[in-house]
Amino acid sequence: MAASRLAAGGPVGVFDSGIGGVSTLAAIRGQLPREHLLYVADTGHLPYGERPQAYIVERALRITEYFLSCGAKAVAIPCNTATAAAIEALRARHPGLPIVGIEPAVKPAARLTRSGIIGVLATSGTLLSDRFHALVRRQAADVQVLLKPCPGWVTLVEEGGWPAHADRLVAEPLEDLHRRGADVLVLGCTHFPFLIEAIRRHIGPDVPVLETGLPFARQLQRLLLTLGLARVAGEGGVSFFTSGDPAAVARRLERLTGRRATVERLPEPYC
Ligand code: DGL
Repeated sequence: MAASRLAAGGPVGVFDSGIGGVSTLAAIRGQLPREHLLYVADTGHLPYGERPQAYIVERALRITEYFLSCGAKAVAIPCNTATAAAIEALRARHPGLPIVGIEPAVKPAARLTRSGIIGVLATSGTLLSDRFHALVRRQAADVQVLLKPCPGWVTLVEEGGWPAHADRLVAEPLEDLHRRGADVLVLGCTHFPFLIEAIRRHIGPDVPVLETGLPFARQLQRLLLTLGLARVAGEGGVSFFTSGDPAAVARRLERLTGRRATVERLPEPYC
């Protein structure tokens, strides 16, 4: 894809394994209110965090094909697991297409810690990835980084409700990080900001909890501006798609954001 063929009027494709990336939409809309976003919740293939890398690469390529079929001018991946697994393969396949990924807030956490110990909560896929380990080597070489895969948190967010075991599920990794001296926490999965109230119930109001929705949105904005691809007029919006059940995703959207939206099923070859 040649960059010159990308049209500023085209939409921006945004995808996550599910509803998690929605936690970054307010930041994206705040930075880029004129853009039209196509948001794909790949719930037919959730959770990415437990999938092999090749599986996620295949999904990322497929979803990007869908975005390109809609005339997308850029792709944004507000999913730490998908970024870690697939952004290099996507860039190699589409060298002219602007692609922005997200990464856990390891750098600001390493600057902020006083104990010299930070805790990163993310999926196993992210925490085991080469990309994440390179980030830690680059940005946090002189602090101790404790890793917490948080099994079940993504499902809690996707399925909603608050089952009897939910408090324990949220508390366990947090208590362990506290016991081991972490004084700054990083939410390295876009689903986790939706659990912030439960997290705060366990850690109190003072521990810094960092996520990267805003820097991610700013990076997308910078890229579109630099390439002359930002829309300069008109009002933007978001259209939602899923590889899973559209009614279920619409219910999750309403539960988590209070907004009602139509969710369409992705056309067959992309599901
Ligand atoms: N929301 C995703 C992330 O930021 C992944 C969740 C999953 O499907 O495991 O890592």
